Amino acid sequence: MTIMSALTASSLFTSSTLRASKTTTTSSTSNKNKNKKNSSSFVVCRSQKQQQQKTSLASSEKSISLLAPSSSKNECIQQIAAKSKAPPPPAATGPTPTQIAAGVFAAAAIGVTARKAMKKKAKKIVIAGAPASGKGTQCELIVKKFGITHISAGDLLRAAVAQGTDDGLKAKEFMDRGDLVPDEVVVNMVKSRLNEPDCAGGWLLDGYPRSASQAEALSSYGIEPDLFLLLDVPDEELLERVVGRRLDPVTGQIYHLKFFPPPDETVAKRLTQRSDDTEEKAQNRLKVHHANVNAVLSKYKNIMKTIDGNRQKTTVFKEIEGLIKSM
Ligand code: AP5
Repeated sequence: MTIMSALTASSLFTSSTLRASKTTTTSSTSNKNKNKKNSSSFVVCRSQKQQQQKTSLASSEKSISLLAPSSSKNECIQQIAAKSKAPPPPAATGPTPTQIAAGVFAAAAIGVTARKAMKKKAKKIVIAGAPASGKGTQCELIVKKFGITHISAGDLLRAAVAQGTDDGLKAKEFMDRGDLVPDEVVVNMVKSRLNEPDCAGGWLLDGYPRSASQAEALSSYGIEPDLFLLLDVPDEELLERVVGRRLDPVTGQIYHLKFFPPPDETVAKRLTQRSDDTEEKAQNRLKVHHANVNAVLSKYKNIMKTIDGNRQKTTVFKEIEGLIKSM
């Protein structure tokens, strides 16, 4: 593949990646809105409790009307009145015991939702593994399921190369050899991306940090993941994955000529291959990975989960999904 065709492929791939990240932003925004709704339910529940203590019957009635369906309203008002020793107001209608029970359960359910929302915090995840261990493939599935913003160090660098920025020009020679791009280029690139607004709700960092110095840099900016996923795949399997990988520049989808072939001829014809996906370059990428990985793992051993990545991608994802859900 010539440099020009590699750049064209990269640039096409970049635009699809940007499209994908736009979708992610939208879904994380809608998650934010969900959280906002849930936290306002919580405020209502808290205010009800405080008002019970303060025995202000009039404002308690307002709070209950937000909290519970009208069928349980009188029941709740009477309980609060009894506690506050204030005389209960006359019942407007006479709810049946079933209606009252339904209202109490509904109010309790709102309380549970609110507590869950309080517990839910931004997910900050790193996914690591050797070249072609399946990081990108799993990230596609994680983003689809959880709507977390995906940041791939490799994609950021390929975008810089395609745009011909100063950083891109510096990075290119290292990437072409399969070596690590110097920290002065990659560290700031990742840090700036993590500071963008769509990362406030959580992030999924793919392929960074890859060395002790990159891990240190992340910590020095106060950026700490809560979960470190390590995909474990034997080297001989990795080489077969590298040489058979193909990318769809239109959708950003990752295929493999043998393991995940494209669905039809039209897609097959437009697939591109990364310029570093040759056996020779992959050998060097693997060597670089093995030389650096232990220093990174020791930094994150308390939050690290090793996953057998040498299984069907859906089986691998099931395990990852369980780990993310339990965060
Ligand atoms: P980068 O783009 O990050 O490449 P990489 O780490 O080598 O990882 P890959 O993208 O090759 O593989 P992947 O694990 O995402 O696998 P995928 O899901 O695609 O980095 C490229 C270069 O940029 C580096 O060499 C370096 O120069 C530079 N760079 C990047 N980050 C840097 C950093 N932090 N510091 C300095 N330099 C940096 O899957 C691979 C294939 O396998 C696909 O065909 C897929 O379909 C298939 N596959 C996936 N899962 C399965 C499965 N379960 N079973 C069978 N096949 C599968």
